[in-house]
Amino acid sequence: MKTRTLGSSGLEVSAIGLGCMGISQSYGTPLATPVGVKLIRDAFERGITFFDTAEVYGPYKNEEVVGEALEPIRDQVVISTKFGFDIAGGGAPDSRPASIRKAVEGSLKRLRTDRIDLLYQHRVDRNTPMEEVAGTVKELIAEGKVKHFGLSEAGVANIRRAHAVLPVTALQSEYSLMWREPEEQILPVLAELGIGFVPFSPLGKGFLTGTIDTDTKLAETDFRNTVPRFDPENRAANQAMVDTVRTIAADKQITPAQLALAWVLAQQPWIAPIPGTTKLHRLEENIGAVDVTFTAAELAAIAAAVSGIEIKGDRYSAVNQARIDR
Ligand SMILES: NC(=O)c1ccc[n+]([C@@H]2O[C@H](COP(=O)([O-])OP(=O)(O)OC[C@H]3O[C@@H](n4cnc5c(N)ncnc54)[C@H](OP(=O)(O)O)[C@@H]3O)[C@@H](O)[C@H]2O)c1
Repeated sequence: MKTRTLGSSGLEVSAIGLGCMGISQSYGTPLATPVGVKLIRDAFERGITFFDTAEVYGPYKNEEVVGEALEPIRDQVVISTKFGFDIAGGGAPDSRPASIRKAVEGSLKRLRTDRIDLLYQHRVDRNTPMEEVAGTVKELIAEGKVKHFGLSEAGVANIRRAHAVLPVTALQSEYSLMWREPEEQILPVLAELGIGFVPFSPLGKGFLTGTIDTDTKLAETDFRNTVPRFDPENRAANQAMVDTVRTIAADKQITPAQLALAWVLAQQPWIAPIPGTTKLHRLEENIGAVDVTFTAAELAAIAAAVSGIEIKGDRYSAVNQARIDR
């Protein structure tokens, strides 16, 4: 497995991580704990050393599964988790210093560890100044409970405010052939400040893999039923992107999922995506993307092929869309 370093932090991770969220929520029936534990250990055996979870996944349950899986190999992996929602009080963003500390104590217990390698604020809390958030994480680093600081879905102004108090190691935000907005303002700022980028939903929440079309019936509990981008009419419109991905992948003799991941990896050497899957054969397929390389001409051809395709539909339900930091 190739490795990458997140910005100028020195934090080395496998070039592809494992997003563990889907093991416990979002995409239909969660995996039974022993099955989830085995999948995570299988990922490690295949070279993945970067595992992403969050307090809110489950809630709590996903950290427990990740903690159980990684306990025997704790010193050989990088664990990232996230604080930032008032889970007991309804789920609004909450990054008050006392809430951060409480979340971290819980995460450490569930993850069965004495330190969190990379701790992200999950969403910007408009009621808590970013300086207070970064200051609290700085204290947690001084106490040895946290090693690196990250943000998720933060906008340029908050990235700068946070970084001025405590160097930010990584930003985790959505980025894929379906969602390229970070290229406009975010990636230039990350390059300027030496911050790594961890794209979530690099497979477009499964859509870019070509396994979902207008006829695909998602499980009732699948959260994509609440995502406008997955409305039947938007799925039909967005199929143009999948068709293009499929054609380019076939030319290159790789799968659509591998093309989607390899394209993200090709954008910058300080990018490490965290695709999620609940299936070992797909995990192995996704790992295959690490060895795919493109010539400059191939990258230009991909850019030209996708340039005219407009993706339809918001990527979040209205309540979550309103929480995105601009
Ligand atoms: N910071 C945040 O706010 C935030 C938000 C969302 C996600 N995340 C993190 O990012 C991780 C990944 O994002 P994501 O799960 O939303 O989206 P994703 O990785 O783009 O897509 C996951 C979906 O793709 C399917 N899939 C995976 N590999 C496949 C393959 N080779 N062929 C066909 N289908 C495949 C999975 O289904 P199967 O399980 O059936 O394979 C799952 O439904 C999450 O686990 C989480 O850790 C963070």
